[in-house]
Amino acid sequence: MSPRQLFKIILGFGSLVSLVTGEEWAFPEDFKFGVATSAYQIEGGWDADGKGVSVWDRLTHETPGIIADGSNGDIACDSYHKWERDVEMVKETGVDYYRFSLSWTRIFPQGFVNYVNPYGVAYYNNLIDKLLENGIEPVITLFHWDSPQTFSALGTLSNTAFINLFAQYARKAYELFGDRVKIWITFNEPKVVCQDFHWFLGNVTAVYPAGVIEYLCTHNLLKAHAEAYHIYNREFKATQKGKVSITLNFEWSEPASDSPEDIAAAEQRRQFEFGLYANPIINFDYPQIVKDRVAQRSALEGFPESRLPQFTLDEKLRIKGTYDYLGLNHYSTWYVRASEEEEIGRPSYAADTGTYRYQNPDWEGSGAEWNKVVPWGLRNILKWIKDTYRNVDVLITECGYPDTTGDVDDEPRVEFFRLYLNATLQAIHEDGVNVKAFMAWSLMDNFEWQQGYQIKFGIFSVDFSDEERTRTPKKSVEYIRNVVETRLIN
Ligand code: GAL
Repeated sequence: MSPRQLFKIILGFGSLVSLVTGEEWAFPEDFKFGVATSAYQIEGGWDADGKGVSVWDRLTHETPGIIADGSNGDIACDSYHKWERDVEMVKETGVDYYRFSLSWTRIFPQGFVNYVNPYGVAYYNNLIDKLLENGIEPVITLFHWDSPQTFSALGTLSNTAFINLFAQYARKAYELFGDRVKIWITFNEPKVVCQDFHWFLGNVTAVYPAGVIEYLCTHNLLKAHAEAYHIYNREFKATQKGKVSITLNFEWSEPASDSPEDIAAAEQRRQFEFGLYANPIINFDYPQIVKDRVAQRSALEGFPESRLPQFTLDEKLRIKGTYDYLGLNHYSTWYVRASEEEEIGRPSYAADTGTYRYQNPDWEGSGAEWNKVVPWGLRNILKWIKDTYRNVDVLITECGYPDTTGDVDDEPRVEFFRLYLNATLQAIHEDGVNVKAFMAWSLMDNFEWQQGYQIKFGIFSVDFSDEERTRTPKKSVEYIRNVVETRLIN
């Protein structure tokens, strides 16, 4: 037997044992753990100290019916005032990273960078300094969905003007905080912004996007991301020595059967959902299957050209390579089947995507109907990313478990982290994927967008009936702290 064969057998045995015990692999020394939040979901202080109005302020105030419990983020976890406690909590969890987002209108109330609100800057300066004092590294998201309300009149991301407005905002953020912040994320989950929630970014009274606005948004977002990347590279990287990239969400699409049709359908879905953004940034241009399908359907619908805009060669080259790592948010998994081509009628991204997806009712559930516990989905994603994008460094910027109770005895969440951290270890040790970080969503229960406060992802609970917004650690805090300390799953 060759040493290589022996090695493979040992490895194979290792995986078997690890599946049973999940214990014998350690997280590599350079692997980082973190916890994540976003501004609108936790800060509150919606009009404090000169903050301007964001689309979420306006949306929740004018159309509360759109939020499951009619609530809003006016106070949320009150992190605008309780940020010192937040830092203590991160410290208590023992992790390396705290990922949070900047509220654009807290710093630039109208969205434009001509006026900087000193209180907003002071808030983030204090937070960043306190994190660093405690040995915690800040990871900043520039755009986690709460864009300036002023831009709605322009259609926000569907307008090319957004590209420059975002680039100016990014430059100022690097100028203000980049001496201390070394990991930047331009956009959180573009697919949710453009394909799912796009109407939050335009006018509250949404117009039907007709499979057109979704792609304009995608196109402008990719260009805005690329500009923010290049600005950093050109003007800041030499002195600040940080990294810039984007965070994409990815729910795994598993073929429903071994049939070539289902295998192709699952891949088609991955390309529409993830490749749409990852391919132009890491490889080159939009994925061929996406270009072909949107062009074909657009022609049949009577459009003079594809609803998916084309990049010029210069644009393709400018977007390609604009990543120093890849940010990944992952929540759930679906089976995907080939489906009959949808009839030509109302144009839409969903019809372009084609395919049919469903979840296995036997999969372990959670507090959110769509969020099933399927750890092998994460492992498959990581492997697929490695194979499709030349083993790029991946930072898992969100992964977490929702419940509706907020119980501090959150054993199901502990089990979730045990399984998903184990899948991460398998991806690293068995599949050779370059996963470099795992950030739990979320540091604390918070405003879960359309679900309001009904769905809770926190490892700390927050008492929303108490003016103090008292935070209490759940069991999962201790679990994560232990993993971080031992670098083992137990
Ligand atoms: C993500 C989002 C987070 C959080 C999470 C849980 O899509 O980035 O803000 O809400 O989902 O649903």
